[in-house]
Amino acid sequence: MCGIVGYVGRSAATPVLLSGLRRLEYRGYDSAGLSIQEGKSLLSLRAVGKVARLADKVRAEWSEDRQSKCSVGIAHTRWATHGAPTEANAHPHADASGRIRLVHNGIIENYRVIRAKLEAKGHVFSSETDTEAVSRLIGEYYKGDLRKAVISALRQIEGAYGIAVISADEPGRIVVARKGSPLVIGVGEGECLVASDPSALISHTRRVIYLDDGDVALVTADSVDITDLNHAPMDRDVAELEFEAGAVEKGGYAHFMLKEIHEQPESVRNALRGRLDLLNGTAVLSGMGATARELIELQRIVMVGCGTSLHAGMVGDFAFEDLAAIQAEVQPAAEFRYRNPLVDGRDLVVAISQSGETADTLAAVREAKEKGAMVMGLVNVVGSTIAREAGRGVYLHAGPEISVASTKAFTGQVAVLLLMALKLGRGRRLSRERGLALAGEIGRLPELIEAVLKQDSAIAKVAESMAKHEHAFFLGRGPMHPVALEGALKLKEISYIHAEGYHAAELKHGPIALLTPGMPVVVLANRSSVLEKTIGNAEECKARGAHIIAIVTEDGPEVAIADEVIIIPDCDPLIATIPAVVALQLLSYHVARLRGCPIDQPRNLAKSVTVE
Ligand code: M6R
Repeated sequence: MCGIVGYVGRSAATPVLLSGLRRLEYRGYDSAGLSIQEGKSLLSLRAVGKVARLADKVRAEWSEDRQSKCSVGIAHTRWATHGAPTEANAHPHADASGRIRLVHNGIIENYRVIRAKLEAKGHVFSSETDTEAVSRLIGEYYKGDLRKAVISALRQIEGAYGIAVISADEPGRIVVARKGSPLVIGVGEGECLVASDPSALISHTRRVIYLDDGDVALVTADSVDITDLNHAPMDRDVAELEFEAGAVEKGGYAHFMLKEIHEQPESVRNALRGRLDLLNGTAVLSGMGATARELIELQRIVMVGCGTSLHAGMVGDFAFEDLAAIQAEVQPAAEFRYRNPLVDGRDLVVAISQSGETADTLAAVREAKEKGAMVMGLVNVVGSTIAREAGRGVYLHAGPEISVASTKAFTGQVAVLLLMALKLGRGRRLSRERGLALAGEIGRLPELIEAVLKQDSAIAKVAESMAKHEHAFFLGRGPMHPVALEGALKLKEISYIHAEGYHAAELKHGPIALLTPGMPVVVLANRSSVLEKTIGNAEECKARGAHIIAIVTEDGPEVAIADEVIIIPDCDPLIATIPAVVALQLLSYHVARLRGCPIDQPRNLAKSVTVE
């Protein structure tokens, strides 16, 4: 969604801001803008569309010499919520005097009230945004101290925000604040950066300060001074970013999605590193922060997440019940707090999120804590809000996921959920023997994924027929049902083909009416106790002229009705969810490529959904 970058230092701010914005393009946006300090005045430019258009404007309007003298600025990519993607609605927004500029992520819930009050005082708004109410309110309070004015304004505001503000009257300073929208400050040598996402600042510094909700920071080239909204000083640690700048580059791949698909042997290896106990057939997950007794006494596991993370939770559901004999359920995070959930101190609520910033998942974490449940995060982005608020958790260590379509996060999430199920299982009903066998299989995951990746060109061939269609079904049973849902999500998200994931047995209860001759039906037909049933369901489609693409087990039972097959290595049916999903990721990727789609940034989508 929206992205923020700020720079204060000794170099020209504009190139730093533009390259930071480019790093944030993956989050999804529809307009961009920036403001820089030039002596005691501000220069601003905004553009609808890509950052490249903003960069063209910068080149056309500001000479390099002029830019080189401006070493402070803020910039933004906007994903429209209040008002269409127009130049007037793009950030930065100004106060009435035009001497203050602000960029904002999040949603101001009481902006109408503030706007009405300001209009009654004579303000004439130039945009339809909620943000302009904040920039104008700051201007109202400004009496020569920007931080004070920001604090006074924020105390009037309800909603979520990450903001960065500059004033023409305070050269060399940026004021930033957050509540509900992430902000990180990069601390360099004689320069500081601010960003909504560390990937925008990694090429400058690895030393970062994550702001907490309620923090307001005054940032200069050499200092970061943090207070709360009552002006009380706050101490925040400087952390070291774990990933390298190269992790947010394509590294020779045509798309980030393809790179991330191919990174999965390594990302899953990282998720497993130091966590598999192959001697005792169990897992070591200190981040769960629970004693053996607490784990034994757990009454239920409730997983919450959205989109791909929700699908990972659905696989976890099978793993927990099968391996650990513990009641498990998965709830869409968006639903959790509104249904007044039944959870208490004997329940473990697992919040699953790649970004750790998804608004609905964060709200579920807060609700679960409120109800006294044990809460843990299963998160990829280190230092993200969910990771910090959950208090305990297990990181995926998948590295930055840039493509909007989530791939390596899913396999990391499932791998960690399998570890959790193994650990809980060994404390409950799982024998050492079964534990050892499973631990061995989990340890093979990187090589199982490699085996699928080797079939890239065969899968690309299968994609050729699929790319010509506008509709597709994905069918699976048991733990392959969520894989079918995930396969369909991947396809629709990046290729714009209408795809439905279904439990294989559910098709004949209605959706089969949609089948037309030649329609692609992807069937997850790996070796499992329900294979015969799945094949039976596929037969029903075949009888109606469907084109069957079967995901089958190497040297496993034949699926004679399949028109095309993709082979995954033989492994435990729970573990097979990972190689199977990798095959479906590649299939979707190649279909989208053949259809000429903008794979890494599909229309209308944002990488991190920070609004409800
Ligand atoms: O960052 P999160 O895992 O919380 O994100 C949840 C969903 O928005 C995300 O998985 C989304 O469905 C992906 N674009 C799917 O590829």
